[in-house]
Amino acid sequence: MSVFDRLAKLYAIGGGLGANRRGYSAAEDDAHRLAAEWMRSAGLEPEVDGAGNLIGVRGEARVWTGSHLDSVPNGGKFDGALGVVAGIEAAARLPEAPLAVVAFRAEETGPMGSKRLEQLPDAFVELHIEQGPVLERAGEPLGVVTAIAGQARGAVVFSGRADHAGTTPMAARSDALVEAARFVLHVRECAREPAVATVGAIEVEPNAANVVPARVTVAVDARAPDAAGLDELVTAIGFEPSSRLDPVAMSGLPFEVLSELLPDAPRLVSGAGHDAMVFAAAGVPTGMLFVRSLNGGVSHCPEELSSEDDIELAVAVLTNALARLTTVD
Ligand code: HGY
Ligand code: MN
Ligand code: MN
Repeated sequence: MSVFDRLAKLYAIGGGLGANRRGYSAAEDDAHRLAAEWMRSAGLEPEVDGAGNLIGVRGEARVWTGSHLDSVPNGGKFDGALGVVAGIEAAARLPEAPLAVVAFRAEETGPMGSKRLEQLPDAFVELHIEQGPVLERAGEPLGVVTAIAGQARGAVVFSGRADHAGTTPMAARSDALVEAARFVLHVRECAREPAVATVGAIEVEPNAANVVPARVTVAVDARAPDAAGLDELVTAIGFEPSSRLDPVAMSGLPFEVLSELLPDAPRLVSGAGHDAMVFAAAGVPTGMLFVRSLNGGVSHCPEELSSEDDIELAVAVLTNALARLTTVD
């Protein structure tokens, strides 16, 4: 079965529009079951660690590759899944290479699985769809990631007072949603590229058309390519992050091997977060390979797209990189 066919099989799990495999859901479990089968057929022995990460191992696996099989709601076909399926394909093409292919749990809400890894190897390489327009605009199928932007996420709660929408004088209202709306606009004003900020989720209580909102919770996602920029953005927005991942650079042999294999490919900073951040932050030599996003680079939606030709190229480069990394003494 081809990489593309496997991606289609994973995409069909969970139903609905796009990919629907939330972290630690039954749909993610189903995807892990499929991936375990494919790992076996590639000569990898699937193991599950305490965090539920699926690790397909062959021999003394000090070189790891992989990504995640969970998705955002109505997500794309390639985000995460490509890195796992391509890793399995690369392992099948290198039947003697000692390596591991990993499907991390709940990357979209964390990364949770990779953060709970019980052990870290000597080298990690992740193939991922770019999820942006850079490679498409450059007319290039592949890119070498140099660094991954930092991110700070957290919830902000606005309290008001439930009241009747028809009888309460406007001046007497304490409307939590009006305050939250002002904050959402404030977050947008604070974002000065390359720093970006988003309020992507909102919860209104009691969430009834004829009740003045009593309490509103919004989710903030703030990102910047440098730690100082991220600090400034968080301060300007004025929220307390509940999770933060500092910007990290790709480094060491995985990064060098990808750079040697693709001397003329674009180098780019990833605005998206990845499991690779966990390895890089822990000082593990880490490299990331991007494959071109089509459709203007849209992602985290069913329109996310990459081509079979580009993906075949990416799998060949990943295989080559793993061959070199696993033969280094
Ligand atoms: O949100 C992100 O950057 C990634 O898709 N988890
Ligand atoms: Mn991803
Ligand atoms: Mn994602």
